[in-house]
Amino acid sequence: MKIGVLGTGMVGHAIGAKLIQLGHEVKMGSRTATNEKAAGWAKANGANASHGTFTDAAAFGEIVFNCTHGVASLEALKQAGAQNLKGKILIDISDPLDFSKGMPPSLSVCNTDSLGEQIQKAFPDMKVVKTLNTVNCNVMVNPSLLSGDHDIFVAGNDAGAKAKATEILKSWFGWKSVIDLGDITGARALEMWLPLWVRLMGVMKTPNFNLKIVK
Ligand SMILES: NC(=O)c1ccc[n+]([C@@H]2O[C@H](COP(=O)([O-])OP(=O)(O)OC[C@H]3O[C@@H](n4cnc5c(N)ncnc54)[C@H](OP(=O)(O)O)[C@@H]3O)[C@@H](O)[C@H]2O)c1
Repeated sequence: MKIGVLGTGMVGHAIGAKLIQLGHEVKMGSRTATNEKAAGWAKANGANASHGTFTDAAAFGEIVFNCTHGVASLEALKQAGAQNLKGKILIDISDPLDFSKGMPPSLSVCNTDSLGEQIQKAFPDMKVVKTLNTVNCNVMVNPSLLSGDHDIFVAGNDAGAKAKATEILKSWFGWKSVIDLGDITGARALEMWLPLWVRLMGVMKTPNFNLKIVK
């Protein structure tokens, strides 16, 4: 499958590398066509890996992953172009973390709205599924890094898109438990977990941990 990965940070690298390992063709997108991190990633990941602008990656992908800086995601997607995203599934991993006032970051949107909803609203012809934003990128693509059972979540308006995202999570990435939180307003809860995640990372001294939901 042809997949567009928007974002040249550690999430884009981890997701992109895993997709390549699975045999997919991946184009990593950036604000510029010559981004050094994207070029380095493509070089390290073989013939099925390429890079270009956000526009190039969105046009290339049958499915697109949003791995851009949360407060800049709307701008990055605007650069990708609504026409290149029309009808496609967007796996939205972004978190609306605002680091402008230092640590800990605050949420740029919360409570009655979320970045996932803002993205869906700005691009109504795209099928946004919020997922994976609740764990570190090492865990995203390798849940067995953590011992025992633990959970990942999906939220989105389109049932077919959520089913495909769930298949990607389970069959491609190895997640055993995927909890469906309903429509895209579920992104509020997923994004509002981040302040606790950041606090926990300070206490646990590792980013490699996750939620396990027990009844
Ligand atoms: N790090 C994790 O393990 C983790 C876990 C869960 C969720 N997340 C979320 O995943 C996303 C990616 O995180 P990351 O740490 O890999 O990378 P990041 O540093 O948060 O984002 C890097 C990407 O954002 C783009 N970007 C930055 N400012 C921009 C602007 N003004 N306009 C357009 N694009 C802009 C960059 O473009 P260029 O390529 O042009 O530089 C780059 O592609 C974030 O939303 C983060 O909150 C991260």
